[in-house]
Amino acid sequence: MLSTYLLLILVLFFLLTTLIPQYIVDWQIEYRKNSLQAAGNEIGKRIDYYLGFYDSTIYVTYIDNVTRQYAVSLDSRVMIFDDDGKIISDSNNQFKQQVLDLPQIRDALKGSTTWSNYYFNDIGNVLYLAVPVMIENNVRGGVLIANSINDLYDNVDVINNTIKTIIFIAGILITVGVAIISNHFLKPINKFYPVINKLSMGDFGDRVEVMSNDEFRMLADSFNSMSIKLNEVEQQREDFVGNVSHELKTPLSSIKLLSESLLTQDKVEEKVYKEFLTDINNEVDRLNSIVTELLSLVDLNKKHLVLEYEMTNLNLNIEKILEQLKPFADQKNIRIAFEQSDKVLMRLDKNKIKQAIINIVHNAIVYTPESGVVTVRLYKERDQVVIEIEDTGYGIPKENIDSIFDRFYRVDRARSRHTGGTGLGLSISKQIINLHYGSLTVSSVLGVGSTFYIRLPIQQGV
Ligand SMILES: Nc1ncnc2c1ncn2[C@@H]1O[C@H](COP(=O)(O)OP(=O)(O)O)[C@@H](O)[C@H]1O
Ligand SMILES: [Mg+2]
Repeated sequence: MLSTYLLLILVLFFLLTTLIPQYIVDWQIEYRKNSLQAAGNEIGKRIDYYLGFYDSTIYVTYIDNVTRQYAVSLDSRVMIFDDDGKIISDSNNQFKQQVLDLPQIRDALKGSTTWSNYYFNDIGNVLYLAVPVMIENNVRGGVLIANSINDLYDNVDVINNTIKTIIFIAGILITVGVAIISNHFLKPINKFYPVINKLSMGDFGDRVEVMSNDEFRMLADSFNSMSIKLNEVEQQREDFVGNVSHELKTPLSSIKLLSESLLTQDKVEEKVYKEFLTDINNEVDRLNSIVTELLSLVDLNKKHLVLEYEMTNLNLNIEKILEQLKPFADQKNIRIAFEQSDKVLMRLDKNKIKQAIINIVHNAIVYTPESGVVTVRLYKERDQVVIEIEDTGYGIPKENIDSIFDRFYRVDRARSRHTGGTGLGLSISKQIINLHYGSLTVSSVLGVGSTFYIRLPIQQGV
């Protein structure tokens, strides 16, 4: 950034110090030439009559006086020449009676005014200008004026020096300004690099500290929340992979152990064989349900998941679900009640909602001791439909209640072991309900029971 500015300054400097002075000099020389030409014509008018008589002493003295007078007032050397080009009068008294071979004199004798700029080592720049003196269209002679124009070039030096000074000061100001600006802008930006580098290496969660109170601070703030979010996602991913491996590992180890002990024993009774194989079979079921639930969780998490809405009679559907689960409840002598206060007909992804409800009612049965009651209620509340699933079960400790919707989370691992769950059911249900823009909440009293609430907006998929 700095170098660009400096280059610009150099270009500007070059333009200003060459073009502008040149233009000014040309313009001033033109002006000087015009005034000398006017003076030359004036001299010519005063002496034209006497030019024919230059051998008369009186006339020559007169001409000399005029010459000297103008030499002083014009600050120039003034000479008068006759129609042969011979010098009659010279304010410096040097070339009298001599013929000077100058182009300006030759041109003047042809009737035209010309001028030239000469440079002499000792006296510098001199402007030569000759005007013809005419009487009735005849050239009688001419006036030659030699004027030093060093002053004009001196002016240019002054101008040049002024420009140089201005540019020098501007250069310093710009350099300092650019340094300050780049310090202001680049310093905060530079703070991002190490953190971005770390991010790209997979090291998330670092923060950028920007002290200022401007756009950079806002940028840093959003950057930091992104970094924190990435860190969370990465943490979840690691946990998830860890959990999945762990959950798969447990049944696999059991299967390995059971099959190995069968293989290493020589004579195994058929009864023991059956027993072990039953266990192995159960573990395979368990593996199967983990993988199935994982797959449906992966499906639900797809970015472009589209729900297949269809008009659904919820009363009828819940009845069917409860019927399906009844044999299972009967095993524990658990009674299932269904209280329907309202008829609910709404658009839903029928299969997914069914899966969500089954998971929750199934839990209610699993986590309720024998001879308990599970009550399902369906009613409308303003623009929402509520499905309540209440049980008279073990309840959930307060400190665990927020976690039960997390993947693989199970409150009491020891007891959960023989209930055979995976810890994925509630997170699947919650995901499905969220996709319907609804909510899944729970209230629970330890030792008394739990109630899960599914709330769905009635207007769906429009
Ligand atoms: N109705 C309930 N009563 C008591 N605890 C429950 C109930 N429903 C769920 N839980 C607790 O929440 C945990 C997570 O449930 P879930 O995601 O369905 O996994 P899983 O049933 O496979 O263990 C269960 O392990 C259990 O500890
Ligand atoms: Mg469950």
